[in-house]
Amino acid sequence: MSGVIHNFSAGPAMLPLPVRERVAEAMAPRRDRTPSVAEISHRGGRFLAIAEELQARLAEFMGLGDEHKILLLQGGANLQFAWLPMNLAVGRTPAYLLSGHWGQKALAEAGRIGPAAVVGSSEESGFRELPEIGHLPVDCAYLHFTGNETIHGLQFRNPPAAAVPLAADLSSEFLSRPYPYADLGFAYAGAQKNLGIAGLTVVVIRQDLLERIPDDLPRYLDYRTWVTGDSMYNTPSTLAWYVALETVRWIESCGGLGVIEERNQAKAARLYQAIDDSDFYSNSVAEEARSQMNVPFWTVDEALVSRFVAAAEEAGLQGLKGHRAVGGLRASLYNAVDLDAVEALVEFMQEFERRHG
Ligand SMILES: Cc1ncc(COP(=O)(O)O)c(C=O)c1O
Repeated sequence: MSGVIHNFSAGPAMLPLPVRERVAEAMAPRRDRTPSVAEISHRGGRFLAIAEELQARLAEFMGLGDEHKILLLQGGANLQFAWLPMNLAVGRTPAYLLSGHWGQKALAEAGRIGPAAVVGSSEESGFRELPEIGHLPVDCAYLHFTGNETIHGLQFRNPPAAAVPLAADLSSEFLSRPYPYADLGFAYAGAQKNLGIAGLTVVVIRQDLLERIPDDLPRYLDYRTWVTGDSMYNTPSTLAWYVALETVRWIESCGGLGVIEERNQAKAARLYQAIDDSDFYSNSVAEEARSQMNVPFWTVDEALVSRFVAAAEEAGLQGLKGHRAVGGLRASLYNAVDLDAVEALVEFMQEFERRHG
């Protein structure tokens, strides 16, 4: 073991080291007791400057203008599973494209609000490929898809083509590459993968869709409340906003989303190559559907999984246990994970195979 810990956690996930340093500095006690960023009013000038810069940098990375509004909310992506249909699917049918676990969860919540249609699913293939889109309902509210399925390890390269507003769960691929955010009617992502820490959920909404929101919703659950209140209807998760700001500054300092994408592609390619070159490890997702962010993989003998996880932990490789819904192993390769971490993982995998293959 090199003495370095490599963190492959699916979320909350690794923060870039410079971000940790900046946040530690911002939180460090001062001799004169100057309050930290987490101890000041969200309505004061010091915090409003953070909020403004965060909004501006996010809009720039996403290529969004006035047509869209960025909301900074709480409740995670899970709350959006219900919040979205409550607001945008009243009197219309929302359509769902299923490529894995999270899409199924989003659909189940929509079904509690009203009828929801499945217009494509690759469940029969065990979510090994991306689904085709079938017929959309005539009164279709939106087409929901999960940009990157964190558990099954599938990713849409581009948003699906459809003549209705697209609604995307981008939780586990947010800001991992240049992406046509402006083509979406709605998008959401928890911050705890590529944008910092848990407690912040980014929502993007095309402003013309606000007209569809019914007037009888609780104020908290009406997106318009957050649009008019600049995401400060109640106390925001201020520290998570600050961490998000440091994270987008870090992305900028790396050279922007194009550079981040190149790095992410190189990491994923290295790991998939190692899996494909071996008869001991496998990943059965169709090549064109493979996720660049989350790589699930299996050993020939399922009984070896717990030994792999334990030995990997000993070697300083953390967070490799697969999700309980599918088992196996999973390496999450979010922006903060560097190529050295992937090299260390591949080396460990090859050594483990030599001993157990
Ligand atoms: C694609 C996707 N959607 C939704 C969720 C749920 O997110 P949250 O815990 O923020 O509700 C996750 C969490 O891992 C996810 O990866």
